[in-house]
Amino acid sequence: MTMVAQSRLSPGAPAPRTSVPDGVRPPDALLPLYEVPPVCDALYGEIADCPACVLAKTRSRTVPGSGPATCDLMFIGEAPGQREDELGLPFVGRSGQFLDDLLASIGRARVDVYVTNVVKCRPPANRDPNPDEMAACADYLDRQIALVAPRVIATLGRFSMAKWFPGERISQIHGRAVERDGRWIVPMYHPAAALRDGSLRAVMKQDFAQLPALLVGAV
Ligand code: URA
Repeated sequence: MTMVAQSRLSPGAPAPRTSVPDGVRPPDALLPLYEVPPVCDALYGEIADCPACVLAKTRSRTVPGSGPATCDLMFIGEAPGQREDELGLPFVGRSGQFLDDLLASIGRARVDVYVTNVVKCRPPANRDPNPDEMAACADYLDRQIALVAPRVIATLGRFSMAKWFPGERISQIHGRAVERDGRWIVPMYHPAAALRDGSLRAVMKQDFAQLPALLVGAV
């Protein structure tokens, strides 16, 4: 394991495990994202060894999630792509760059939000995750939500949206926050959709703009 030079945790807090995979040299800017909050350690270990679906045979490495445990804001995407599979971190390719831009537009940095996906392993050739694969990962996602206990969950794309809004169309409900189990769920387009269709960039920016008010309980 490569060690992260500087922990983001306060002095006296238990040292976090870091999860830079052996043989991987990530850009320095990504190193803080490899910190594993102590309460997530066992879960991330389970995910790393998960044999539960066919994606275990083709993944380079699992991509459990990044960010602090106990965080007010959580993003749930679809599945790791090639770059994520190489580095073991979510949203570190082109979609991730746009996600970072969107976060900056509301004054947040990636290290201060929790980011994960519906499935933790890359589907071959970036195909859609299938129902068996999502079912195999469902308990991991539920446990992450319970540990992180976010006030606001933004779903990115239709697969994570379907967990709370089955049968709905993203074009109809994006940006409409709904309260479920004491937290806000905000369906959003996937950043990759905005990379394909530039007109969705402004739409996503507008949807992000309402997050700060939800986070401070002003609605
Ligand atoms: N797309 C996703 O849905 N998740 C990632 O981690 C990267 C791209």
